[in-house]
Amino acid sequence: MIGIFDSGLGGLSVLAAIARTLPRADLVYLADTAHVPYGEKPEGFIRGRVVAIGEHLVDQGCGLLVVACNTATVAAVRALRERFPQLPIVGVEPGVKPAAAASRTKRVAVLATEATAKSERLAMLIREHAAGVEVMVEACPGWATRVEALSLDNQEFAAEIAARVEPLLAAGADRLVLGCTHYSFLAPLMAPLVTGRAELVDVAEAVARQCLRLAGAAAEGSGQLHLAATARPERLRAALPALGLGWLAERQHGPAALASV
Ligand code: DGL
Repeated sequence: MIGIFDSGLGGLSVLAAIARTLPRADLVYLADTAHVPYGEKPEGFIRGRVVAIGEHLVDQGCGLLVVACNTATVAAVRALRERFPQLPIVGVEPGVKPAAAASRTKRVAVLATEATAKSERLAMLIREHAAGVEVMVEACPGWATRVEALSLDNQEFAAEIAARVEPLLAAGADRLVLGCTHYSFLAPLMAPLVTGRAELVDVAEAVARQCLRLAGAAAEGSGQLHLAATARPERLRAALPALGLGWLAERQHGPAALASV
């Protein structure tokens, strides 16, 4: 069984890629909706949540953990690996490396939460993987919360996205890294802005391939999906069709559970 978690709905974009890549794996998705958003919280708090959720998922029998959240990965994947040194753990980090490698203009932008934008880990990724490439880091406060509210079909939000993305495109960025798993669900809103000018970089498929490499016995099961959340679990099931993931509901086993973590 594979345990996948995020602060809320964003990691469902990673869950979808894993479910496609590992169709027989039993999957548990845990949304820490009692504490969303992580992106505006201190690193120590996020670390505490990540380790507690990891322990909960391991207790449930998960043999592979996926931190389906950039903010949680940059803040706490190291602490989680220290807590479970033998367990395969896959984190999600902004796709700076593929973006920098593919950029023709040698200018890329990273859209991320405030916590990720100011993290030392992102600064290190940029130093290691973007030599000779200008990387513009744009914090996008409030965007994850908009996804949580499922208020995507909204003129005012579309204008807010345009106001952040246009200057990056005007400055020559030809790759926009979706550095928060929630932002995968904003791709349709960004498409009219970026088409023909830049490409969006989402690492969900690469993360799923990494799970395939590491899963071993954790990939064998009957393809069941268990949903859980630390608050309002019923919203998770309702969110699937709203986010274009209605097909995942067919794999769902039992109602979404309230997780006491
Ligand atoms: N989905 C998370 C990420 O990838 C963070 C959203 C939040 O809770 O602020 O960064």
